[in-house]
Amino acid sequence: MKHFIHLKDISAKDLRKIIVDAKKRKNLRKRLNTLEVDKGSPLKGKMLIQMFEKASSRTRISFYLAIKQLGGGTLTLRSNELHLGQGGESIADTAKILSTYGDGFMMRTDSDEKIENFKDHLSIPIINGLSPSSHPTQVLSDVFTVEEIKKKPISKLNICWIGDSNNVLDSLIAASVKFSFKLSIGCPKKFEPGKKVRDWVKKNNRQIFIYNDVKNAVKEADVIFSDKVISLNDKVNKKKKIEQFKKFKIDTKLINTANKDCIFLHCLPRGDEVSDEVFLGKKSHVWQQALNRVHVQKSILLYCFGKLR
Ligand code: CP
Ligand code: NVA
Repeated sequence: MKHFIHLKDISAKDLRKIIVDAKKRKNLRKRLNTLEVDKGSPLKGKMLIQMFEKASSRTRISFYLAIKQLGGGTLTLRSNELHLGQGGESIADTAKILSTYGDGFMMRTDSDEKIENFKDHLSIPIINGLSPSSHPTQVLSDVFTVEEIKKKPISKLNICWIGDSNNVLDSLIAASVKFSFKLSIGCPKKFEPGKKVRDWVKKNNRQIFIYNDVKNAVKEADVIFSDKVISLNDKVNKKKKIEQFKKFKIDTKLINTANKDCIFLHCLPRGDEVSDEVFLGKKSHVWQQALNRVHVQKSILLYCFGKLR
């Protein structure tokens, strides 16, 4: 049994194994319908319990499909439907119950500490479906999408992030170390990645490149990633923050200054950080990106259940 909480805590070898497996599985089910089960039904009879303390469309649906396609099933809960945090039921007791009924637990939360707490009391694997410091299933799937579209290892590409220093970027930074790719980040000075994550990069003998000028950040980019300036439950003056990011909007003029075949990716939901023209344009692969979450999460589930080939 293995947990999937932060990319930084998983070996590069295992992350690569997950991607290789996802590629094989995606190819093998080209002619299968949405809910048809992969040959061999590797997670037959297994149940994934998913709990959301914050909104989700893609993560919720893609995990549902992922476990179904492996032969298992899922139960999706909102935390306010449980005793947890109400009526005084502890994480330890809830974790024991989840481990009694289910085989895996996926959680989206506003508290990294809560994930750690659950991990300590569960006897089944836990998957981080987004926390303040990480969105690991999203970013591993994004690495898969980049390699699928570009048809080369991500280590040979210049990856660029334009936007806030949030959970998705933290996972992308971890991925840049694990998969050895060049990562350039464009954001206002005030919103640069924090010391903790920068120190971790240094400790791993890698570098990230931070620019406060958006044009310098996208120069020679093969892939431009972005995300909403205002994340879920971001407790800031929203109007002010959007204003501070105004110069960092990704529009056609900007993307045309990157490498000729530069693609655009975005985890969704989107806000004002990208123009419609780019988001819905030829360089954008956001729908393929969203679909690939199903394929990569299947291999993440197999990794957690100790069934990765
Ligand atoms: N990208 C992503 O995680 O989307 P949801 O918030 O809809 O799950
Ligand atoms: N950074 C965003 C990602 C949403 C999928 C958030 O945390 O809301």
